[in-house]
Amino acid sequence: MALHRVELVEGADHAGFRRAVRGLVAAGAAPDDVLWTAGDAPSLFGGSTLPTMLPDGDAAPPLSLPRAVGELVEAVVCHREPERYALLYQLIWRVLHGERYLLGHHGDPLVHRLALLNKAVRRDLHKMHAFVRFRDVPDPDGGERFVAFFEPDHFIVEAAAPFFVERFQSMIWSILTPVGSLHWNRRELTVGPPAVMSEGMEGDAVLAGWRRYYESTFNPARVNPTAMRAEMPKKYWANMPETASIPRMIQEAPARVRAMVEQEAAAPIRRSPDKAVAAMATSRPATLADLNALIRRSPPLVPGATQAVLGEGPEEAAIAFVGEQPGDQEDVQGRPFVGPAGQLLTRAMAEAGIDRDAAYMTNAVKHFKFKPQGKRRIHQSPTAGEVKHYRWWLMEELRFVRPRLVVALGATAALALTGRSVSVLRERGPAGFGDWDGFVTVHPSYLLRLPDGEGARGAYGDFVADLRRVRDLAEGLRAGS
Ligand code: URA
Repeated sequence: MALHRVELVEGADHAGFRRAVRGLVAAGAAPDDVLWTAGDAPSLFGGSTLPTMLPDGDAAPPLSLPRAVGELVEAVVCHREPERYALLYQLIWRVLHGERYLLGHHGDPLVHRLALLNKAVRRDLHKMHAFVRFRDVPDPDGGERFVAFFEPDHFIVEAAAPFFVERFQSMIWSILTPVGSLHWNRRELTVGPPAVMSEGMEGDAVLAGWRRYYESTFNPARVNPTAMRAEMPKKYWANMPETASIPRMIQEAPARVRAMVEQEAAAPIRRSPDKAVAAMATSRPATLADLNALIRRSPPLVPGATQAVLGEGPEEAAIAFVGEQPGDQEDVQGRPFVGPAGQLLTRAMAEAGIDRDAAYMTNAVKHFKFKPQGKRRIHQSPTAGEVKHYRWWLMEELRFVRPRLVVALGATAALALTGRSVSVLRERGPAGFGDWDGFVTVHPSYLLRLPDGEGARGAYGDFVADLRRVRDLAEGLRAGS
């Protein structure tokens, strides 16, 4: 019997395993004839002198395996189980030798075992995606840099990377774990050695921000400590700023529920339209920069957006323009109104005598929502529920900017500013938005959708005329103030 000994490197050695399997299959090496060792597991043979008899996998033809087998291999290689490579090779061998549909046999002990390993890895990946928290760290170049520390159960760091690259493309970040680290510089991902949490990572403003956000979204009536621990195991708590608040919040929950019930009983019959918002109002950010840090770190309500697009413009702007949500270009660049609709708006503002740089530009919803279609990302309008979710942020922004006049561009902005559905064409013109003098007009993307011709030119002229009124109203409000 020829014994093949395969040595793989520590961690998830996808490339080494693939190469070895190709060589072993080409050499007709049955699973019982192969001894697998990996850098992360002690070898049964200790300092054995068994020779490494690995056929040259690079020269062997690629294997044709069912896709489900390939996916299972990708995941299970990330598991810490020392036997993972041996089990996977057994599976591959059997699939290639007459049992092509083996994975469908859930009662098969090998399939069952691999399914458990697969599940554990996927769960670990989910935890990492959900529980990584970035913190600001001083950057020697004076820029913004974010670091997170996380302890996965398995070797999933590289498998988790695409998720973070996609979501935090515009940030410079590192994720440090005891099994490896990831570093993203806005262009390139580098995989580095294991890391340990360094002292200075505690106590910054970001931790406080997360804690506040978590506390304000925490619903005391739904407290279920067992479920919380199952979903967010204690081992992750050390690296998650919000968890410092959990024991106290659990303790205070009954009293907070009582207070909520009493408050509800005393309230008018109409339910508050913004319960979550009211709950969050207890922890208002102190500055616009604090608010923006909170927005930037909050995940999109509908996953997919590259980043939150924050409001832009001077804090003392006289006019605030509120759009619907960032579009494709805005999502990529991280700035509001830079795509086609934004360019049209900028042109119309200039024609109306409004300096865009002196205005505050923002959106009702801070993340781009889209449906992928081939390589394109097709804009999807936010639902009323989504607008409501983001409304608190918009209101807080306006509280800091304190513009003389707020312009709602289109129905979504008008909904966010009034809390009710608004027919833009019927209510176009001056409006009251609670604490703010307001103005309702069309969204520039409406103008872009009109077929070229007389009608479109007229609609654009009306839009510019609206913006002239906006300029005059803001001037008048200054004169009157
Ligand atoms: N449309 C909007 O409503 N906002 C933007 O930032 C861009 C397009």
